[in-house]
Amino acid sequence: MRCLDKTIAFVPTMGYLHEGHLSLIRQGRKIGDCLVVSIFVNPIQFAPGEDFEDYPRDLEKDLVLAMKNGVDVVFTPYDKELYSNGFQTDVNLKKLPNHLCGISRPTFFSGVATVVAKLFNIVKPHFAIFGKKDYQQLAIIRQMVSDLNFDIEIIGSETLREHDGLAMSSRNIYLTSEQRNSALCLYKSLQKAQVLLSNGINDSEKIINTALEIIKSHTDIEIDYIAICDPQTLIDMKKIDGPALMALAVKVGKTRLIDNAILNL
Ligand code: PAJ
Repeated sequence: MRCLDKTIAFVPTMGYLHEGHLSLIRQGRKIGDCLVVSIFVNPIQFAPGEDFEDYPRDLEKDLVLAMKNGVDVVFTPYDKELYSNGFQTDVNLKKLPNHLCGISRPTFFSGVATVVAKLFNIVKPHFAIFGKKDYQQLAIIRQMVSDLNFDIEIIGSETLREHDGLAMSSRNIYLTSEQRNSALCLYKSLQKAQVLLSNGINDSEKIINTALEIIKSHTDIEIDYIAICDPQTLIDMKKIDGPALMALAVKVGKTRLIDNAILNL
């Protein structure tokens, strides 16, 4: 494709495609002559005890969805194809992974950056599209692309939500209807935070405490973190004096869910 002077748009995924993935795919369809989607549940981004084996998979359904949405190539490598026995190279970033999800999942972003670098080298896209739902992942990919001189434009795409605000995720399938109801507190906390800020409360601790109250009223939820931080560096912000990223991670039962929003003054 590159030698035919055609542009390649690329959407990396772990499959079990939902509307969130499809919004990225539709965007890719608009910007590239050729649209490539990868479906690969990347073993090295799961720590022992996480849900690698149980991660939802439905390749047949994914292929139908990909075809219906105009994908030209679906790349579905086997684990052994990407990670041969002698595999020994990791991509590690020094700062961005030391915050938010990287604290409780210390090997996660190395696994993500490594596989995305490999996929970039295989697919050779001009554009790659990532969701803002995984804000830290997007920030890390942008940094990696800049640091390692990948000639790729990274595009961030808005979070797609269910009608009631729950961010779409392949893992939502694990939730019982009660857990799904509880999980709505993530979005409610983000909305409440913006209301507080708009009413002049710019003290992060106060906003986080309100989110804690909302979330703790659900006994089936365990909080990993609630943070308000600088959207570029991901360093905590005590006072909100410009755009701030509010990010949350919880476990509802055994299911880990994340969400975030940019809070504006
Ligand atoms: P996966 O969770 O399958 O997500 C693939 C892409 O879809 C990511 O860029 C993610 O941010 C985006 N996405 C997921 N839910 C979304 C939503 N509700 N709205 C908008 N975009 C959404 O993220 C991964 O896979 C992996 O870590 C990967 C980058 C493929 C590396 O293995």
